[in-house]
Amino acid sequence: MQRGLSMNKNDKGPDRHRRDLLRWLAASPLLAGGAFEAMAQEVTLAAPGEALDVFDFEAAAKRIVPPAHWGYLQSGVDGDVTVRANAQAFSRWQLRPRRFVDVSNVSLATEVLGTKMASPVMLCPIGSLRAMHPDAEAAAARAAKTRDQLQILSTQASSSIEDATAARGAPLWFQLYTTNRFEATVQLVRRAESAGCPVVAVTVDTPAGRNTVTATRLRRDDQRPCRACHTVNDRGNPVASISTKPMFAGIDTKGLGLTSPSLQWDFVKRLKDVTKMKVVLTGIEAGEDAELAVKAGADGIIVSNHGGRALESGRGTIESLGEVVQGAGGRIPVMLDGGVRRGSDVYKALALGASAVGIGRPWVWGLASFGQSGVERVLEILNTELRLAMVGCGARNLREIKASSLIDTGVVRRD
Ligand SMILES: Cc1cc2nc3c(=O)[nH]c(=O)nc-3n(C[C@H](O)[C@H](O)[C@H](O)COP(=O)(O)O)c2cc1C
Repeated sequence: MQRGLSMNKNDKGPDRHRRDLLRWLAASPLLAGGAFEAMAQEVTLAAPGEALDVFDFEAAAKRIVPPAHWGYLQSGVDGDVTVRANAQAFSRWQLRPRRFVDVSNVSLATEVLGTKMASPVMLCPIGSLRAMHPDAEAAAARAAKTRDQLQILSTQASSSIEDATAARGAPLWFQLYTTNRFEATVQLVRRAESAGCPVVAVTVDTPAGRNTVTATRLRRDDQRPCRACHTVNDRGNPVASISTKPMFAGIDTKGLGLTSPSLQWDFVKRLKDVTKMKVVLTGIEAGEDAELAVKAGADGIIVSNHGGRALESGRGTIESLGEVVQGAGGRIPVMLDGGVRRGSDVYKALALGASAVGIGRPWVWGLASFGQSGVERVLEILNTELRLAMVGCGARNLREIKASSLIDTGVVRRD
């Protein structure tokens, strides 16, 4: 059934933002004639509760997020092969159900590096979310509070760590881009530590640029002038401006880069010397690097390829997980993100040794569509699906999720 969009002016709540945006679009010359009516009719979610899976939010978000911002969110690098590989790679493993286990009480709760969470589903760090919703990461933080889930705030976030922490009502983890100037890095780290963050997740997978073709293409489809909101280069394309991000307030950003191509493993010790926070490395994909991470003093690892936005490796993160878990050798927790779209994906990652599993784009689809309540529903859907996977495989808690509940077919479905 095709549902129309409620336009009751007395409506309150998180989806008001969506309706406001549609009203704004209706008044815009971009959508002259009957285009607005056609667009409104295409909106199929009138409330977050109507979403049956996270893809319903993808469809809803796509209809309201302008092309340039949609390109920013969805893009991988080169031909987006790794973005697709991340999601497809989960198909290699099948679940192996077990019967007559008393699954009347199933707990998804867990604890990683001292942080308790209602389920192992984490909200990954995503930069510049004001492009998706005016309340950005703070709305997500309120959702994380309602659901009692872990959120990792990006260095590039549109909300400050203080605002996000206040909205969460508990500490977040802070994602750190290393920058190319250690004094600036120390300022970021000290600020996160003062805000109460117990863990800093250092992203190490984008040392020197990337080729985001889809983002560039969709930006060309967008008729709105970028310079209205962004710093632009002489060709009118937006340039990444860290100086406008709240986490860089008070930091001298002249000549400051987000990352540095010259960093090596000694960075971990330098970082540990200036902070009491636990140091997690995000973007590890090889067993050798997991061993080196342990040796360098890292407290945890997130297997990640930046959602397919770093290198066109063609390898899904779930395929890298085994060797990283082996390299870490049980000495530090290993987490994973990339292409997780179902609770059964979460289950598979846990069964292959992950301690927690991150989602990126899915929660942003929920945020863009409905704000806080959209993110809450995304978490609810994934947790419900995870619970059902556990019930089917006879696992009553995360410790009972074992590799023996998976079958490795060795074949990845490419559809
Ligand atoms: C639009 C976008 C922005 C991102 N920004 C950041 C960031 O600022 N810092 C970071 O460490 N990772 C960033 N990531 C990577 C995510 O944290 C995460 O690794 C990825 O989204 C997981 O894959 P998924 O989107 O398929 O779930 C970003 C990803 C996307 C899609």
